[in-house]
Amino acid sequence: MGEEAEAFMGTLFRPIKPSIRINSLKCDPTEVRRRLEEKGLKLTPVPWCPWGYWVEHLEEEGTLGNSLEHFLGEIYIQEASSMVPVEAAEITPDMRVLDIAAAPGSKTTHAAQRMENRGVIVANDVSIPRIRALIYNLDRMGVINTVVTSIDGRRFGRLLPGYFHLSLVDAPCSAEGTVRRSFRAWANWRPKAYRKLAEIQKALLVSAFKATIPRGIIIYSTCTFAPEENEGVVSYLLDHYPCHIEELAIPGLDPSPGLSSWEGEVYNPQVRRTVRIYPHRNEVGGFFVARIRKEEI
Ligand SMILES: C[S@@+](CC[C@H](N)C(=O)[O-])C[C@H]1O[C@@H](n2cnc3c(N)ncnc32)[C@H](O)[C@@H]1O
Repeated sequence: MGEEAEAFMGTLFRPIKPSIRINSLKCDPTEVRRRLEEKGLKLTPVPWCPWGYWVEHLEEEGTLGNSLEHFLGEIYIQEASSMVPVEAAEITPDMRVLDIAAAPGSKTTHAAQRMENRGVIVANDVSIPRIRALIYNLDRMGVINTVVTSIDGRRFGRLLPGYFHLSLVDAPCSAEGTVRRSFRAWANWRPKAYRKLAEIQKALLVSAFKATIPRGIIIYSTCTFAPEENEGVVSYLLDHYPCHIEELAIPGLDPSPGLSSWEGEVYNPQVRRTVRIYPHRNEVGGFFVARIRKEEI
């Protein structure tokens, strides 16, 4: 981190500001914003998502999760940096979208909102308990353009090759970027876990790549800082499959470029165009996002 190390470490020990996405599928966002403000909440817009707000003046912990607005699906509690992948995808309502690791549904519900409930999303997750949470959230948020599947995401490339206009790979990861919310990520930290996770991440990314149409987009994201799970995974795809990284221009975001090497491993030079979202630069949780364009074969 060089000169930024101190600021970076300092931010990790400060609690994160809660944020929400107001759901235009279920309500008039202006009216819900006004209602929340009348209840004494201060809403500050998240610049990169038109429905995203940081929320302050919470009277007590858990107020948002217990609110009527949450219960009715008018809001989704979502970390502001987790709104970047869908905003980076430039989704249009006519698309076929694959969300290969979708539960509990923050990206799926966000994508459905962007698509105005049109087109189709296949939202998949291998975990049955998490699928239940996904279905609950889709129902709560009024999402009707989504088919839910529960298979190992590594099978999609063979099952539906070249089918989706856009694939989201919000990969299972070591979740280091969530440490401001909970220290669990550090308590669970194991050096060997990186290698195992990286293998799953590569396989999910390759599967999503195969399931995407030529000229289609794959968004790869994690909520971790670990280069083995970020640049290392994307570099593997770039070295073995016809694709390239596209620049991300996210309004109001202060991004840092992907790392070109880590612990002696030199990555494909294109990973410099991926985006690291650091908490000390953006007042958010940590995230990594890559926008990958599949080339004609
Ligand atoms: C980071 S979470 C996804 C969060 C979700 N995209 C959201 O925004 O709410 C990663 C998910 O990957 C799922 N997963 C892990 N291995 C998988 C596999 N082989 N195939 C499909 N899903 C998998 C986990 O069950 C977990 O729900």
